[in-house]
Amino acid sequence: MENLDQLRDDLLGAVAAAEDLTGLDTVRVSALGRKGRITELMKGLGKLDPDARRTAGQDLNQVKTAVADAIEARKQALEDIALEAQLAGDAIDVSLPIRPEEQGLLHPVSQTIDEAIAILGEMGFAVAEGPEIEDDFHNFTALNIPPEHPARQMHDTFYLPEAEDGSRKVLRTHTSPVQIRTMESTEPPIRIIAPGRAYRCDSDMTHTPMFHQVEALAIDKETHFGHLKGCLMDFCSAYFEVDDLPLRFRPSYFPFTEPSAEVDIQCSREGGTLKIGKGDDWLEIGGCGMVHPNVMTACNIDPEEYQGFAFGLGIERMAMLKYGIPDLRTFFESDLRWLKHYGFLPLEVPTLIRGLVP
Ligand code: PHE
Repeated sequence: MENLDQLRDDLLGAVAAAEDLTGLDTVRVSALGRKGRITELMKGLGKLDPDARRTAGQDLNQVKTAVADAIEARKQALEDIALEAQLAGDAIDVSLPIRPEEQGLLHPVSQTIDEAIAILGEMGFAVAEGPEIEDDFHNFTALNIPPEHPARQMHDTFYLPEAEDGSRKVLRTHTSPVQIRTMESTEPPIRIIAPGRAYRCDSDMTHTPMFHQVEALAIDKETHFGHLKGCLMDFCSAYFEVDDLPLRFRPSYFPFTEPSAEVDIQCSREGGTLKIGKGDDWLEIGGCGMVHPNVMTACNIDPEEYQGFAFGLGIERMAMLKYGIPDLRTFFESDLRWLKHYGFLPLEVPTLIRGLVP
């Protein structure tokens, strides 16, 4: 019989030396596995005579138990070490200061739309919406825009590919189709505003292919041009936060309004700085007029019974004027430094009487 003390020391040494669970398992197999050293010796016991077998058996069992216990203890220790290492790796240092979260800001376009909705909302206008991909009827025909009108030309309008029936949809060239959709679906009296995107094939210092407008429409039995003027005057004073801001209504032409006017606000540009409501200069902010009877008829509203006004203002232009933003193209460059400079905290919304309330 092999020297058992030697065997035990060997195996216990190997167990102690095992550096990880895989190494330890190799030692276990080499000792207690089917062909392990202890197992082989156990098998050999049968060849001994009974007395020798008993003592050798007891001795061998002691070695076996010692080795098995050592393996179990080492296994536990190695598992603890592995767990410690994993916990140390995953550790969250709850005492670390939090990472600074940046406060997001509203884009001046969103802010200006919010301001327009807040002010006109107080005057009783509800927000209406319509699709940005429009059909010819809503964008042109129902608005009394004749087939030969330049706004329909390929170089002004973004047309979508021709449909099977030969019709072509367009990216709406103004927010006025929302007037049509509202009149088609709503019985007068009507008071809506439609803020949103519009598209024209134009790109230079003062034009971008996508821009924003806010459209307003009021239809009732006795709505007249005086209401239109009063509404725009109150709106502009509230929006620009200038009491009694002088407005100028310049005769103009739109196919969908008659009479039509362009709206200017008074300003001064002395010394290169723009001041709104002072001086003797004028700046255009949008178009307006009394809804054309043909437009009403196209929407099944009787122009003998109802009349109304509409106006459309350029959102970017209003933002540039109020917040002193010099270049239109910067609105859509998504430059974070620009947004941080010109952006707004949420809830900075004006009201008719109070101006901006933070
Ligand atoms: N739709 C016109 C434009 O885009 C603006 C407008 C709206 C004019 C409503 C009159 C009435 O230029």
